[in-house]
Amino acid sequence: MPANRDRMILAAFLHNGGAHPGGWRHPSATPERLQDLSFYQEIAATAERAKFHVLFLGDAQGMFHIAGRDAYAGSDGGSRPDPTLILGALCATTKQIGLVSTVSTTFNEPYAVARRIGTIDHLSRGRAGWNVVTSTNESEARNFGGDQLMEHDQRYARAEEFVDVVKTLWDCWEDDAFKYDKKTGRFFDTDKLHALGHVGKFFKVAGPLNLARAPQGHPVIIQAGASGPGRALAARTADLIFTAQPHMAAAKKFADEMRESIAGFGRDPRHVGIIPSIQLLVRSTEAEAKAAEAELLSLIPPERALSQLQMLLGGFDLSPFDPNGPLPDLPLSNATQSNQQKLIEMARTESLSIRQLAQRATVSRASWSMAGTPEQIADALADWFHCGAADGFSLAPNYLPDGLTEFVDHVVPVLQKRGLFRTDYEGETLRDNLGLPRPVNTFVADPSRHVEPAIWAKPTRQAK
Ligand SMILES: Cc1cc2nc3c(=O)[nH]c(=O)nc-3n(C[C@H](O)[C@H](O)[C@H](O)COP(=O)(O)O)c2cc1C
Repeated sequence: MPANRDRMILAAFLHNGGAHPGGWRHPSATPERLQDLSFYQEIAATAERAKFHVLFLGDAQGMFHIAGRDAYAGSDGGSRPDPTLILGALCATTKQIGLVSTVSTTFNEPYAVARRIGTIDHLSRGRAGWNVVTSTNESEARNFGGDQLMEHDQRYARAEEFVDVVKTLWDCWEDDAFKYDKKTGRFFDTDKLHALGHVGKFFKVAGPLNLARAPQGHPVIIQAGASGPGRALAARTADLIFTAQPHMAAAKKFADEMRESIAGFGRDPRHVGIIPSIQLLVRSTEAEAKAAEAELLSLIPPERALSQLQMLLGGFDLSPFDPNGPLPDLPLSNATQSNQQKLIEMARTESLSIRQLAQRATVSRASWSMAGTPEQIADALADWFHCGAADGFSLAPNYLPDGLTEFVDHVVPVLQKRGLFRTDYEGETLRDNLGLPRPVNTFVADPSRHVEPAIWAKPTRQAK
């Protein structure tokens, strides 16, 4: 199946100080600005100048486990400002780019998330998106009253219900419910308000949401699950699918399977963008690009690489094994099963030692990476796009902010010249710019779903 659009979707995906584990040490990187609003404003302005669809901030509500003090000391994940608050602030300084944040369904409640993401959609006039994740870190569980992470498939069962509740909350108010009629004294039309009365396996939510329907109807839903239940959630609910794929053939297989699965849920695959994440190094010559790659590699401490591999494989202790020997057999992880399987496959097919796998895994985090000239990179992106392996890409700059600026200044113009990327925004909202329809309000589409709000029920106690 070919890519479902004429031009690519592009997202900028921020990973702390940079997607490369040595990225924060790059001479041009400014990790000391990770808590400064100006850092995010500058990056958002660069992505918007290039007409990117989305600025995406990943998140976790806890520090990842990295075994060993020395390994930890080289990690840039210790300070993560809340991404939804950053996006709220960016509403004031951006005009067209989509503002997307990760929010976990395992460590939140649907009502609060519907309200928070809906608010960003209002403040940005229709540019909000929510990356639905189920969370993969034990440390997050320990920050939210548990000892260990909820079992993988249970997390996805919770996420399925969570997304449905959030979407229904976004429909509680019909689009034209608020009248602000000073003459009649009617702030809103009571016929256009619906409650939820949701009682499910995980949540009990009365509704209605105390927020007007969002400009996009539903802010854009993004999902990156890659296991069976993760893919099912993405196929059923997502507008955009993030994925990490090591090469084009794997990406093509994934995209084909996802499009089939999306159609299986009765949805139009052309209304879902599949965008693999990519890590690129752009230089004017191939030799310079390879040198830049080697420079970044030299900035990763070996303890950090091995420690990160252990985490990516699901938290197994590899210290008893010879780092120059093969990867031992491992049981299935309760965290990121898809990543674990991809890394095991990479180690087996390429006969990598633990040390070699650690370096590879630490750099690419299982997604595709490339170092080359603007033309070489544009050629590769075009190949992925034309064969249907990707509807676009989520660029995770190796270091910030310059990793993004280099792509914007040198690769984007080549893509534009080839007609592969737009030269201006087409619409107002993120949905418009992605070519996605605005969801019909479920209560309008099916009036039998109406639930009378209890908020105006008359008192039942009799006065004496
Ligand atoms: C591009 C991309 C971005 C992701 N961002 C986050 C994130 O910000 N926070 C998070 O907890 N998980 C994130 N994930 C992890 C996914 O939500 C998911 O847990 C992972 O792909 C494994 O899926 P699985 O559990 O279905 O195997 C991301 C994954 C990808 C591919």
